[in-house]
Amino acid sequence: MNIQIINGPNLNLLGVREKSIYGSADFESYLAELKANFPDVNISYFQSNVEGEIINKLHEVGFNYDGVVLNAGAYTHTSIAIADAIAAINTPVIEVHISNVYKREEFRHHSMLAASCKGIIAGFGMHSYRLGIESLLLKY
Ligand code: DQA
Repeated sequence: MNIQIINGPNLNLLGVREKSIYGSADFESYLAELKANFPDVNISYFQSNVEGEIINKLHEVGFNYDGVVLNAGAYTHTSIAIADAIAAINTPVIEVHISNVYKREEFRHHSMLAASCKGIIAGFGMHSYRLGIESLLLKY
């Protein structure tokens, strides 16, 4: 089982950025924990602040991986291009957010991506990624 995690803009600053919202762990430390939790899953990680690079990664994994866990950061609320990329590929994409975006500013309440994703997970801190992987492993 191959799962790609993609983090979008500003998520390279996890652990430094707005700690009261996003926590004090950096993603690399959390990733080691995540991999230990899923020893049978091959988890790859990619982060970019550039919209087109996120799209290129979706194209690269979108026909051969088993799932994508995507936190597109602020592009969630703006990017038709990422929504189109998700719709174009075969691999299921789970939209995740560290914070509960529905508790925050109104502009974060709308996702351009959600309608193209298999499901959405928000508000569980870094564990949103873990829940995203769990959801890809469910059989139904
Ligand atoms: C976020 C929520 C977005 O609104 C914000 O722009 C982010 C992070 C989250 O994980 O909670 O960069 O996706």
